[in-house]
Amino acid sequence: MKDVILGIETSCDDTAVALVTSEGTILSSVVASQLDVHAEFGGIYPEFAARAHISAILPTVHQAFKNAGIAPNDIKAIGVTRGPGLIGSLLVGLNTATGLGLGWNKPVIGINHLRGHLRSADLEQKRVRYPATILLVSGGHTLLAHMKNPVEITLLGTTLDDSVGECYDKVGRMLGLGYPGGPVVDRMATKGLPSIPFPRPAINKGFDFSFSGLKSAVARYLDAHPEAVYEDVAASYVLAVMDVLMKKSSVALKQYPSQSFVIVGGVAASPQLREEAAKLCNKLNVELCLPPLRWSTDNAAMVALAAFDYLNLPTITKPVVDLQLKITDF
Ligand code: KG4
Ligand code: ZN
Repeated sequence: MKDVILGIETSCDDTAVALVTSEGTILSSVVASQLDVHAEFGGIYPEFAARAHISAILPTVHQAFKNAGIAPNDIKAIGVTRGPGLIGSLLVGLNTATGLGLGWNKPVIGINHLRGHLRSADLEQKRVRYPATILLVSGGHTLLAHMKNPVEITLLGTTLDDSVGECYDKVGRMLGLGYPGGPVVDRMATKGLPSIPFPRPAINKGFDFSFSGLKSAVARYLDAHPEAVYEDVAASYVLAVMDVLMKKSSVALKQYPSQSFVIVGGVAASPQLREEAAKLCNKLNVELCLPPLRWSTDNAAMVALAAFDYLNLPTITKPVVDLQLKITDF
């Protein structure tokens, strides 16, 4: 049997466990969703998230083994998200992994959640052609990185304040739409005209992102214009987001040799983003790589795959990644 790693991901609101082979084949992937727990708050309630992980974690691990038809003895190691994320939630995963590792006599490898995302595009099958530029746009992060290969990663820029997904969610709330805001704001945007000149924060300032100014501009506009056509507000907001994401991606793709442009994270579901990215890749003659959304949003399989990098390359005690600008101990 191929080497298998058990992946555990509890950085936010879902308890996710997966069993993955060294080639990225997913033997099982089980998620205990907490959507019901947080729905009434319009966001994630950290204390409840941690408690829900406590009840779900062991049954989820058990189910993952059952679905894969293998036993703990068959695995090579355990990969677990060590951060960034909600501390109470992370601790449940980390302590569970440590306990299981001790009990089963298996090594436990702590993985930076963002590194997991960066590796997610090669789950199930190798999709990325390296070198690649990768854009991570999720509820928690906005990040642009260049990958020479799966382990040599350079962080180009990261979010200085609100992530794109967070901004979508907040604008969604301002427009009286449900949570999460992304899909509903996108849909509303298709019915409006992008006639409002919202700012494109930090568009020409390197690779770091800043979206909170855009969010505030939408709030101020709605305050000042009670008669505002919401569809036009949504369309103008989405266009501003796309302009910023595409401008920075375009500069990165021109500056760093890339065969693929990879987009991961929940916002990669945006039809507008997919369309703009396709146009950009066409223009620059780069292959657009959009992995299936189930692996591009939070999951445990990406954590397991990233853990293999440590196992397969024992000389790399610390991956060649510089995400320490913002998040310690990558
Ligand atoms: O990666 P993800 O599923 O979860 C975490 O970050 O944990 O990302 C969730 C984010 C939410 O903010 C949601 O509003 C956004 O992805 N999202 C979208 C779309 N679908 C989900 N944003 C824009 N357009 C969409 N169609
Ligand atoms: Zn994530």
